[in-house]
Amino acid sequence: MSARVLDGKWVRDQILSELRPRVERITRDHRPPGLAVVLVGNDPASEIYVRNKIRTCGELGIYSEKLALPDTITTGDLLGMIEGLNQRNEIDGILVQVPLPPHVDKHRILLSVLPDKDVDGFHPVNIGNLVANSSGSKACTPAGIMELLRRYEIPIAGKNAVVVGRSDIVGKPMAMLLLHQNATVTICHSKTSNLAEECRRGEILVGAIGKPAFLTTEFIRPGATVIDVGTNRQADGKLIGDVNPDDVKAVAGAYTPVPGGVGPLTIAMLMANTVQAAEHHLCCG
Ligand code: GUN
Repeated sequence: MSARVLDGKWVRDQILSELRPRVERITRDHRPPGLAVVLVGNDPASEIYVRNKIRTCGELGIYSEKLALPDTITTGDLLGMIEGLNQRNEIDGILVQVPLPPHVDKHRILLSVLPDKDVDGFHPVNIGNLVANSSGSKACTPAGIMELLRRYEIPIAGKNAVVVGRSDIVGKPMAMLLLHQNATVTICHSKTSNLAEECRRGEILVGAIGKPAFLTTEFIRPGATVIDVGTNRQADGKLIGDVNPDDVKAVAGAYTPVPGGVGPLTIAMLMANTVQAAEHHLCCG
C-alpha cells in the first residue's frame, strides 16, 4: 500500500484563511500589521524566499517593506538599519534573511532585533521561551510542521521522534517542539553512529540535513510518518528532498512530498507570527 501524502498547501491555506479575519480586525481597529524583510546580497534562493514572503503579505493585507542591501554592508551599518526598524511603531515584525555574508556578525545582528519583533524566533530570548515552553515567536519551519502534524491528527505523545539535523533554524527547535508534545526525541547528526538504525526507531522521522535523497529505505521504519525538510536543487533544476521519494512512498505510513510538503508552511507561520506580534503590540504596547 502506498503511503498517505501530507499536503502542505492544504495546511498553508487553512492557516492563511484563519489569519485573514484577524488581519482585517487589526486593520479596522488600528492599522495593518507590518513586516520588514531585510535581504543582504544576491543569494538567488534567498531572493526567491523573500519575494514569496512579500507576495504573501500582500495577499493577506499585511503591510510589508523589503530592504535590499549590498553584500558589502558592514555589521555596524546593518545594526543601524535594524535599530531604525525597532523604533518604528508600524513595523510589528522584522526578519533578517539568512545566510548573511561571512564578514557580517550574524550573532550580533540577530541579537539586535527586538524580541517582540523577532518573527523568525531566532533571538536568544525567543529561543529561551521555546525551551521553557513559554509564549513567543517560534522558528517558522518547525512550528509549521507541528501545525501539519496537528491538523492531520498524527499522534505525537509517547512516540519515538527522530530529528536528523541539528541546525538552529530547524533541527534544534523541531526537537524541542516535539518534546513539548511528549514525544521521546532523538537528535541525529553527521557524527551519529549507526544513523540508519537510529532513524529506523522513529515513528516520526524528520529529515533536515540538506543532502539530496539521503534517507533511503534502510532509514525508514515501516509505517512511520516522514517529514522532509530538504529543498535540494538538482542539476536539472528540480527540487528534491532529503528523503528518497520512491522509498518513502513504499515504506512510510505518511509523508510530506517535496515540493508541496513543508515548504509552504514556513511562510504561513511567518505570517502567523507577524499577526501575533501585531496583536501583541496593539493590545499591550
Ligand atoms: N533562511 C532560510 N530559512 C529562513 C527563515 O525561516 N528565516 C530567515 N530569516 N532566513 C531563512
